[in-house]
Amino acid sequence: MSARVLVVDDDKAHLAMLVAMLQGWGYAVHPATDGEDAIALVREHSFDAVLTDIRMARVDGLEALRQIRSYNPFLPVLLMTAYSSLDIAVEALKAGAVDYLHKPLDFDELRSALQRTITHGALRPLPAAETQDLSSAIIGTSPPMLELKRMIQAVAPSEASVLILGESGTGKELVAKAIHHDSLRSGKPLVTVNCAALQENLLESELFGHEKGAFTGALRQRDGLFVQANGGTLFLDEIGEMAVALQAKLLRALQEGEVQRIGSDRLIRVDVRILAATNRDMQAEIQAGRFREDLYYRLNVIALHVPSLRERAEDIPALAQYFLTRFAERNKKSIRGVTPRAMDAMLRYTWPGNVRELENIVERAVILTPDSYIAEKDLPAALTATPVSRDEEPRSNTSGQLLEDAERQAIQRILEQVNYNKSEAARQLGITRVTLRNKMKKFGLGENQTP
Ligand SMILES: Nc1ncnc2c1ncn2[C@@H]1O[C@H](COP(=O)(O)OP(=O)(O)OP(=O)(O)O)[C@@H](O)[C@H]1O
Ligand SMILES: [Mg+2]
Repeated sequence: MSARVLVVDDDKAHLAMLVAMLQGWGYAVHPATDGEDAIALVREHSFDAVLTDIRMARVDGLEALRQIRSYNPFLPVLLMTAYSSLDIAVEALKAGAVDYLHKPLDFDELRSALQRTITHGALRPLPAAETQDLSSAIIGTSPPMLELKRMIQAVAPSEASVLILGESGTGKELVAKAIHHDSLRSGKPLVTVNCAALQENLLESELFGHEKGAFTGALRQRDGLFVQANGGTLFLDEIGEMAVALQAKLLRALQEGEVQRIGSDRLIRVDVRILAATNRDMQAEIQAGRFREDLYYRLNVIALHVPSLRERAEDIPALAQYFLTRFAERNKKSIRGVTPRAMDAMLRYTWPGNVRELENIVERAVILTPDSYIAEKDLPAALTATPVSRDEEPRSNTSGQLLEDAERQAIQRILEQVNYNKSEAARQLGITRVTLRNKMKKFGLGENQTP
């Protein structure tokens, strides 16, 4: 059972980095971008610790600390600040902070501070329902992903059919798993069937089962997936590919709550919740006569839209870090991160294959790279051959800001790792010393400077 940590920072890139890192250390992490959100979250959920920035717009960290303490005096709060001022430290400790960390963070120090805080804190077992909250395993803190997670939490405990829409590779199956996992049926099976993988007759016998001898090859009687999912959830993946004739049989089964094995007259009662997913435009499918409108309304009691990766570029750093940690572990390689140039390429790319494509690219890079950072050379040409260059094309403010933050952090991290040896840092970053010097000046990064 992993401890739950609420991490609060209004610098989104820094927040994404912290979340990825703490998850890597095995914590269940909940992000918030300001003090007000943090206070609201503390009122709704139980946490084992809070890690919060002090300087934030809206409600700042000290104020959040006071309100959190007044709401739950047992919840340990760790503060981080870039301003090394004794006054703030004293004020923070007086207000009840358990510890106080300087930015730029020393990661080892943060790790041990968290361990200390959580083992010394009053350890109370969390209710099972809370630790099973799988939607926290869905990476992403962009507004559309937070909205999606909120919707998952809201629909999971209901019995409603949910239609999960989104481009290929966006995480539709992961959403289906999260809904089942967070539902009251989580103790019963989640049975998945890919409607595109089987030809019509086979799919029918998979879904409904068959009697012995019902057709050539039916050597034994077999239960269908509806029966196997009884009491649980049936996930109909790629529902848009199902043949129209079979759609009619499916609709009947859903309406009656009963199924019939092929070759049998007996009706079997089943209690199954239906989740379905598709990457097709269902309105167009209905228009074209390829999908039954009545079945569509039956499945689409609630529609969840999983956003494409290009609609939420700010989630790319956290996803990349998450996959990197996973694949580095699996391949027994010690890879720490992504160079700013490689991250720049990732942030600019349009990701037609969405998260699955990002996952594959990170896996490939982890396997290929001999270094401790994934660099441009480890990425496929499609990513690095993006024609627009940085100086020619002004990017939108948010992605530009995000890039700068990510770049500044990566440069700072490498500089610290190599003890400000500029040749070595430039080598690891894949840039020239002159470029490095310019960037250090631009970001105010120097040995004696506090950024
Ligand atoms: N937000 C996320 N956080 C972590 N992993 C994710 C996320 N979204 C997707 N993934 C991972 O990306 C891969 C693709 O996701 P998934 O199979 O759920 O996509 P899909 O929408 O069902 O794709 P398709 O339409 O091609 O079937 C999986 O390995 C999944 O675990
Ligand atoms: Mg899928």
